[in-house]
Amino acid sequence: MKPPQVALIGGGMIAHDQILPSLFHLQRQGVIGELSVCAQHGRTVRALAEAPAIRKAFPTQSFRSFPSGDSGPHPNLYKSVLADLPPRQIAVIALPDQLHYEAVRTALELNQHVICVKPFVLNARQSEELEREAKARGLLIGVEYHKRFDDRSLMARRRYRDGLFGEFKLGCAVLMEKWYYRHSNFQNWCTTENSDAFTYIGCHYVDLVHFITGLLPVSVSVYGIKDRYPNGNEGYLWADARVVWNNGACLNVQNSLSFPDSAPGTNTQGLTMYCSGGDTGAWLQHDDQYRGLRYAYVRNPGGPGATQFAEPSPDYFQYVDLGGPGLAPVGYGYKSIDFLVRECLRLEAAAPETRGKLLDQIDETGVVATPANSRFNELVMEAGRLSILNGGKEVVIEYGEKPGVRFRG
Ligand SMILES: NC(=O)c1ccc[n+]([C@@H]2O[C@H](COP(=O)([O-])OP(=O)(O)OC[C@H]3O[C@@H](n4cnc5c(N)ncnc54)[C@H](O)[C@@H]3O)[C@@H](O)[C@H]2O)c1
Repeated sequence: MKPPQVALIGGGMIAHDQILPSLFHLQRQGVIGELSVCAQHGRTVRALAEAPAIRKAFPTQSFRSFPSGDSGPHPNLYKSVLADLPPRQIAVIALPDQLHYEAVRTALELNQHVICVKPFVLNARQSEELEREAKARGLLIGVEYHKRFDDRSLMARRRYRDGLFGEFKLGCAVLMEKWYYRHSNFQNWCTTENSDAFTYIGCHYVDLVHFITGLLPVSVSVYGIKDRYPNGNEGYLWADARVVWNNGACLNVQNSLSFPDSAPGTNTQGLTMYCSGGDTGAWLQHDDQYRGLRYAYVRNPGGPGATQFAEPSPDYFQYVDLGGPGLAPVGYGYKSIDFLVRECLRLEAAAPETRGKLLDQIDETGVVATPANSRFNELVMEAGRLSILNGGKEVVIEYGEKPGVRFRG
């Protein structure tokens, strides 16, 4: 089988930090073939092609650029890039949240497998529609929740499902991004009417608690605190969410853009779960920011949020020197892309009449987040938005034939 072509749609932060280098590494190993990158502006794609960290890691590799010159914006160019691919290749969607639905739908209609960054889409109705479209065509949609591929998540999942933690009862999760985010492009879109700290980053730990336990969230209330960005726009920059699960367990999730720029590490984050089994308690604690490394450099290494005293994570995404050429990406950011791409290949290698069954198995296994097995994330987002805009009122999630959300009572 010829290695598939891959089109990466979107050339921003996540494309630079994780997705493009992961795809280049797969290309280097012969797993994928030609690579295209499409953004709205030529300058974005050029910046990606010239990015020093990527050039250093992949000195001999390149991608086809769309748009090629300095022109832009070209909001619909990605449609022709996807149309120019032969059918049943791979589209990787790394666009802003509100554009995922349209881009995924376009890719599916052109018979392409899809890997999409989180959050998949903005509501459960869109997720159901796209799932139907993909299944009818024997195509995979993999949602890129990369924390699932952190070995500690997989360890916890296995042990929980072996009964070692008993039953989850209470927990808390924290993910605070650095203060300087307020000065970035965030201030133009992450405003009260569009999003909030819980919607943007809370989904990671809601997804992980499901991934570990198999439980489903049934109600959400989110208390948000408004704050002003430097440009005067207002956002819910602090959020405290209570997520109740279908066994009655409760997870508290705190999110903000508040972690001091002077603090080590790119953010602070972690998960604690208190559980019970028989006549004893059980406890799970993941410190997801501090992973045991403390570095004090002779100078600040530079880059957004960098500090002279640092606590780098070796686990998400790092480049290591394995003797060249260039550098090799390691960590769960790479592993996640590798896994999703190989699932597309597995599906493509299967006889067409067996693909439906294989897709059902992928849903059922639940390692790859698919629309079918991670739709609760869309419902939590819908419920969270309704709640935060109504002063933290409790919103109930309903599953079944017509999944949806409503205020309690
Ligand atoms: N931990 C995670 O899983 C994680 C982390 C960061 C971002 N994300 C998600 O990734 C997505 C992108 O985030 P980002 O931080 O890279 O954003 P970004 O703003 O840095 O990049 C977005 C890119 O999309 C491009 N774009 C916008 N409209 C386009 C169009 N019509 N056609 C082609 N390109 C277009 C822009 O040019 C830009 O290159 C978001 O959905 C975000 O939530 C996920």
